[in-house]
Amino acid sequence: MNPENVQNYTVQERFRTEQKLKSLIRVSQYLSAIVNLNELLEKIVDSAVEVVGAERGFLMLYKGVIEGVDIDSGDKGELVLTVSKNVSKDALSSEAFQTSKAVMDKVLAHGEAVVITDAASDEEFKSRNSVVRYGLRSILCVPLKTKNNQMMGLLYLDNRLVKGLFGVHELDLLTTLALQAGISVENIVLAEKEKAAVRKASEAEVRGKYADMLAEKNKELEKAYDKLKLTQGQLVQSAKMASVGQLATGVAHEINNPTGFMLSNLEMLEKYHGTLQDVFAQYAKIDEFFAKRGDEESRSMSQSLEVLKKKLRMNFILSDLPSLVEESKLGALRIKKIVEDLRTFSHVDEEKRQNSNINEVVDFALNIVWNELKYKVQVVKEYSDLPLFLCYPHEMNQVFVNLLINACQAIEDKGTITIRTYLKDPDVVVEVEDTGCGMGPEVLGRLFEPFFTTKPVGKGTGLGLSVVYGIIKRHKGEISVKSQPGEGSTFTIRLPFQTASA
Ligand SMILES: Nc1ncnc2c1ncn2[C@@H]1O[C@H](COP(=O)(O)OP(=O)(O)OP(=O)(O)O)[C@@H](O)[C@H]1O
Ligand SMILES: [Mg+2]
Repeated sequence: MNPENVQNYTVQERFRTEQKLKSLIRVSQYLSAIVNLNELLEKIVDSAVEVVGAERGFLMLYKGVIEGVDIDSGDKGELVLTVSKNVSKDALSSEAFQTSKAVMDKVLAHGEAVVITDAASDEEFKSRNSVVRYGLRSILCVPLKTKNNQMMGLLYLDNRLVKGLFGVHELDLLTTLALQAGISVENIVLAEKEKAAVRKASEAEVRGKYADMLAEKNKELEKAYDKLKLTQGQLVQSAKMASVGQLATGVAHEINNPTGFMLSNLEMLEKYHGTLQDVFAQYAKIDEFFAKRGDEESRSMSQSLEVLKKKLRMNFILSDLPSLVEESKLGALRIKKIVEDLRTFSHVDEEKRQNSNINEVVDFALNIVWNELKYKVQVVKEYSDLPLFLCYPHEMNQVFVNLLINACQAIEDKGTITIRTYLKDPDVVVEVEDTGCGMGPEVLGRLFEPFFTTKPVGKGTGLGLSVVYGIIKRHKGEISVKSQPGEGSTFTIRLPFQTASA
């Protein structure tokens, strides 16, 4: 080679190297801007092939790298062909690929780049099938590494056409490119991992938050629904009670006066009966007198009187009259009691409110009904200390009398009535629990209706609980029942606590 040629060659060579360097810088900038892993890998192979002017190229990565396993410490898995340029996947398993596989193994084993400038004269590779049969001339293979120098995979380039294409320059270029490529790949993999972790965490957080929120909303809904049901029930009950109350007031008013004069008339009749008895006693004496006289006229008068007395059953009438009057009086008294109940239910009679101790009011009611309770009921008192409470004491007394009598009547043989009193801010609460027969829904639904009773005629009028209801409402309180057939009943009364300053 003459000096001129040497000069030309050097200039050309430098120009080529400069061009390659320029394109390497461009590629490096380009690669660092890519954020998608697949796109990056494609670009790495494309750029490598372009920068060193290779015929074919491919990039192999450990499976773990692609799947985002921690490359520095985790299991990398097998090496897989990830991107290829002008190399079919089949070619990898073909014999033609033997040489490159051997080169690859060497790179993987030592973690360093391998360049074969002239494969045909390379002692180590010249006898390889691919060199002999496929005609490989130059091979360049560089490792792809993490910042911590861990193998991620490799970049392989080869050429059949030009002997001596890959030399030290190309090796340097490709090593620099691989360095940049490795960093870019690692960055994207880490970023993806981070994103996935954040996504997972926020998904879990959101899911957790929504689940909590949903559960809370469901609870709120359930509560609102229960409240609605209760309010609806109370509204229906109030409306029913209001119309029944009107009716009761009217009926009570209409019955009150006739019952009053019936009772006083019956009492008069009782007195008249006494007077009549005196008169008839006097008649009997006169009859005796005439009977003793013995004359015909007297005897016949006495006889006809006797016939008339017998015919009219005078003796029976006189003896039966007192019990008739007594029964009628009892009947009238019963009517009077019903009228009183109806008046209490419809708040006709006003009594004065007083500060009372509810425990004492309950005890007073217990005394009143004690005769009925004592043989079959054990009474358990669970009283709490209660402050004085502003109420209509006689009405409250009536409430507990009615509840206690019902509880007692519900107990067939022997049982227990438990009375609890306590403060549950802001209410005074009284519970009356019995171990009696309990109630099914058909009874529970009509419990507070006036005249609803399941008791035999004469035993219950069905007014007890409607009176209780009216009184509790008047105290702005609530009454509720828990009961099941055969499992006893608990009546709970809540009264908003109020007290009058002395
Ligand atoms: N503690 C209870 N256990 C079981 N059933 C009850 C209880 N309290 C009330 N009941 C049922 O409710 C019905 C209505 O009760 P309420 O007190 O209004 O009327 P009554 O007891 O039948 O008659 P009255 O109270 O006028 O004598 C009763 O007939 C009974 O069926
Ligand atoms: Mg009753």
